[in-house]
Amino acid sequence: MNKFVALFKRYCQQNESDEYDAIAKHFLLFPSEDTSNLNNAIGTCRTIVKIGRVVVAKEGRMKGAGTALMTAAEQEARRQGTFRVAKLLSQCVAQRFYASCGFVPEGEVVLEGGAPHIMMVKSLE
Ligand SMILES: CC(C)(COP(=O)(O)OP(=O)(O)OC[C@H]1O[C@@H](n2cnc3c(N)ncnc32)[C@H](O)[C@@H]1OP(=O)(O)O)[C@@H](O)C(=O)NCCC(=O)NCCS
Repeated sequence: MNKFVALFKRYCQQNESDEYDAIAKHFLLFPSEDTSNLNNAIGTCRTIVKIGRVVVAKEGRMKGAGTALMTAAEQEARRQGTFRVAKLLSQCVAQRFYASCGFVPEGEVVLEGGAPHIMMVKSLE
């Protein structure tokens, strides 16, 4: 088992693991400066960036503005250096747009606010 998942399970009593464990950035908290033994960590968390609220004024669409916004969001996530994966919940009608930005669909279509959505992911590495 992934050592970070094992730590999470130890403190949360929940067996949570998914494919992002291999690519997320994981943080460990140690009670002292001695970080040589992972079993001494007293906490853990992981980061995956979630992009949302992407919108362009109607009259400005289909001219690259949406792509520019997505590029800016990705560049900031990369600059921060703590995110290795970007995720977003796409309306199915916008799926082609996000695909053109390099995102791939994941999982089943779900209804959010009555509209069909799908999770989409992109590696930032
Ligand atoms: C989705 C949205 C942000 C795209 O912005 P945009 O400025 O029009 O996108 P771009 O001009 O950068 O388009 C990039 C690519 O996506 C495609 N695309 C954009 N909107 C699309 C749409 N609604 N359906 C299918 N393809 C679309 C473009 O054809 C283009 O493809 P290409 O690279 O092959 O030419 C914009 O349509 C919008 O604001 N929609 C309403 C809000 C919305 O649906 N947000 C997403 C919520 S999850």
